[in-house]
Amino acid sequence: MVSSTVTMTAIDPAEAGGPEVLRPVERPVPCPGAGEVLIRVAAAGVNRPDVMQRRGLYPPPPGAPSIPGLEVAGTVVALGDGVDGVNPGARVCALVAGGGYAEYAVASARHCLPVPPVLTMVEAAAMPETLFTVWTNLFERAYAVDGDVVLVHGGTSGIGTMAILLGRLFGLTVIVTAGSAAKCARALEIGAAHAINYRETDFVEAVKELTGGRGVNAVLDMVGGDYVARNIACLAADGRHVSIAIQRGGEATVPLWAIMRRRLTLTGSTLRPRSGEFKALVADELRREVWPHVEAGRLKPVIDSTFALAEAGAAHARMESGEHVGKIVLTVA
Ligand SMILES: NC(=O)c1ccc[n+]([C@@H]2O[C@H](COP(=O)([O-])OP(=O)(O)OC[C@H]3O[C@@H](n4cnc5c(N)ncnc54)[C@H](OP(=O)(O)O)[C@@H]3O)[C@@H](O)[C@H]2O)c1
Repeated sequence: MVSSTVTMTAIDPAEAGGPEVLRPVERPVPCPGAGEVLIRVAAAGVNRPDVMQRRGLYPPPPGAPSIPGLEVAGTVVALGDGVDGVNPGARVCALVAGGGYAEYAVASARHCLPVPPVLTMVEAAAMPETLFTVWTNLFERAYAVDGDVVLVHGGTSGIGTMAILLGRLFGLTVIVTAGSAAKCARALEIGAAHAINYRETDFVEAVKELTGGRGVNAVLDMVGGDYVARNIACLAADGRHVSIAIQRGGEATVPLWAIMRRRLTLTGSTLRPRSGEFKALVADELRREVWPHVEAGRLKPVIDSTFALAEAGAAHARMESGEHVGKIVLTVA
């Protein structure tokens, strides 16, 4: 049993700032509480919300560790009280509310998914945050179903690449936008049906053309601001618009008549502050609906690059350069 008197290396900046604040420090190894497991972290995914947290724009929710990192993969080394179904020695990946950038992290046992032999720890660490986010927003809130055509912005982002992969697995036609010809080419390789370079082409016109004037059934939007009205212009009758980020601003003017006339739905969500119970139910659903595809090797995340834990600042600089395609992962053990 690892006790909290033992220390570990972690990234836990004392102040907000640039990538340089992400220096390795010593912190106590956390103790798993009731229903939790302690994971010896092998790899931790890097996500855009970590960058926002580092800049001081996205504080951890109450009770979450100040150490950044929303997803890990590793080996279970200790159990809290009442843990059922996860054993010491198990290879797991987990969604965590923080604490991923460290040698050890605590996760709810119910937020863990088993790492099958076909996945490396790096691949497994790259999955939970995007999988939970895309599943709950595209398939639940936007209830995308087999045969639907969907528009996903940021097609080569961590979220966007997972949306392409999941969309293909579940019979969606995925149209993406991306900011360069090279990124559009990568999105097509990954499985997008169409990729629109939004810097050169008006995506509203392109979607109209690609769908024969019908529009798309759903939009997964991480841009916000003036994109919202343009996204609405892309939606077919009964279309659904899901906001998951507001990179171009949190205010939008929306055409109410179009919403009424075409019976559109506007919704959105943020994953991190949701209850443990909600996340456990999502994990159950992913285990049932998605994990068979993972175990069979049909779903693997797109990995852009890996960095050692001590190089977390370089990993963030890579993300902020905007040059990455897919996921950036920290290797820990
Ligand atoms: N709501 C939730 O629960 C939730 C959970 C996780 C992540 N998120 C959000 O989802 C987004 C993606 O996360 P990630 O970790 O996958 O980050 P990421 O890999 O860094 O992706 C960010 C993407 O945003 C695109 N982008 C940025 N500014 C844009 C603009 N003005 N117009 C069009 N596209 C733009 C970039 O595409 P180009 O380079 O092609 O421009 C890039 O692919 C982030 O904003 C994150 O905060 C939300």
